[in-house]
Amino acid sequence: MDPRLQLRVQRYGWDRAASVYDRAWSRQLKPAQSLLLEMADLQEGEEVLEVACGSGLVTVEVARAVGPSGRVAGSDLSEKMLERARRALEGEEVDQVTLRRLDAQALDLPDAAFDAALCSLGLMYVPDPPEALREMGRVLRPGGRAVVGVWGERKRCGWADIFPIVDARVETEVCPLFFQLGTGETLADRMEEAGFQGVEARRISSTLHFTSDEEVLEAGFAGGPVAMAYSRFDESTRSAVHQEYLESIAPYRTDDGYRIPGEFVVARGERPRE
Ligand SMILES: C[S@@+](CC[C@H](N)C(=O)[O-])C[C@H]1O[C@@H](n2cnc3c(N)ncnc32)[C@H](O)[C@@H]1O
Repeated sequence: MDPRLQLRVQRYGWDRAASVYDRAWSRQLKPAQSLLLEMADLQEGEEVLEVACGSGLVTVEVARAVGPSGRVAGSDLSEKMLERARRALEGEEVDQVTLRRLDAQALDLPDAAFDAALCSLGLMYVPDPPEALREMGRVLRPGGRAVVGVWGERKRCGWADIFPIVDARVETEVCPLFFQLGTGETLADRMEEAGFQGVEARRISSTLHFTSDEEVLEAGFAGGPVAMAYSRFDESTRSAVHQEYLESIAPYRTDDGYRIPGEFVVARGERPRE
């Protein structure tokens, strides 16, 4: 896909998803976000960049970890997601938080300015993930750490058919390389190639729990990466994609809704001390 088109699809798609995202995904993504924060091991007073911070689910935790003497810079491609993040941070006792609309591949930030650079479940959407990793490395101080979380292997994510179901009805695939980083050692390899050392990756399984058809459909279509394409579907196309998606996740139907397998990979590496 043309990288500029991919950026537009992501930017305006996440704008559309913003009002649904927390309701649909905050519980489901918690295990991956908690592992990322554990591996980041943030300390009071540290200066932290969060790339693709979205609605601020992780940003709030980062602000609490570094405290009033720390500094947090959040960035995301979607202004509507950033608006949510601003609201999420309102109640927090942190003065030193800045939130800016920036593409992860071109961070308008100085070199060597942060102790840690985090990216939770954002790198799969970036046209050139290696460039985004290099940017995270550039803004880190020598010895600073980058911690990145992505979805895992396609075959271990029971909701994965949503992409071919939507892609069959649009001209260009929504997220062609979505599962690439989570496959095998790819994320760790990309981090090493981007110049990080001591790279360590951990893979976790999780279960996504949705209580009804409505909830699982809202999360899949309105609150995530296919939101842009979905917003343009007419009623009959929407009902066809709903039907196909529900059939694809039927094996995970339970008495209380759906319990869908998911997998995440989180990797950490350090910028070498020169
Ligand atoms: C699944 S959300 C993750 C949000 C947050 N990090 C979290 O863990 O809840 C993905 C985010 O990536 C952002 N994103 C997509 N492409 C991006 C890019 N090229 N640069 C920066 N952010 C991007 C989207 O706008 C969206 O907010």
